[in-house]
Amino acid sequence: MKALRIISDEHQSLAGILHAVRFMLKEISAGRLQPDLKLFEAMVHYLEAYAEKRHHPKEDRLFTYLEKRTTEGADALAKLAEQHAAAPQRIASLEQALANFVADPACFDEFAQAFYRYADFYRGHMILEEDVVLPLIRLHLTAEDWATVDQEFLAEMEAKSGKDGSTENFSAMFSRLVECAPAPVGLGPRPYTD
Ligand SMILES: [Fe+2]
Ligand SMILES: [Fe+2]
Repeated sequence: MKALRIISDEHQSLAGILHAVRFMLKEISAGRLQPDLKLFEAMVHYLEAYAEKRHHPKEDRLFTYLEKRTTEGADALAKLAEQHAAAPQRIASLEQALANFVADPACFDEFAQAFYRYADFYRGHMILEEDVVLPLIRLHLTAEDWATVDQEFLAEMEAKSGKDGSTENFSAMFSRLVECAPAPVGLGPRPYTD
């Protein structure tokens, strides 16, 4: 059941980043924090490259095993598949709002609203996965299913862990984001540098 553990760990990291951005936006709105544009860009990049491109495809793999074993949760799976497929548009509108803000500080509210929409969507998405689908997966997958899907997950992580230099090391990136985010959500504020 390593695959399940990996998905849960990723949800925690993603929830942490969403929470950190939300906190920073509120602090900026209240005039207590100067925006760190590089940090926002790095966080949105993390959401794009990690959540949308690495996390959801692994879930799609895992969900196929549930479909093989039962029709329970079929509606939830159909909804999640649709939401996963809409990743490019979802992230593009967030990136566009951030680019507008980077170009013009007057676009702060537009970016904040776009981010809140993204974070609210993501929260509902994760709740559907965690409350409905993951419990069914725990219940219905066989030992053989787990052996195969665990292997697939490990192979995916190994291939894309950054060891070959062509891909990004997301756990290192997560630590750097947390280092720069303001307390109490992070260890900063500290300026984020590439
Ligand atoms: Fe998902
Ligand atoms: Fe997820």
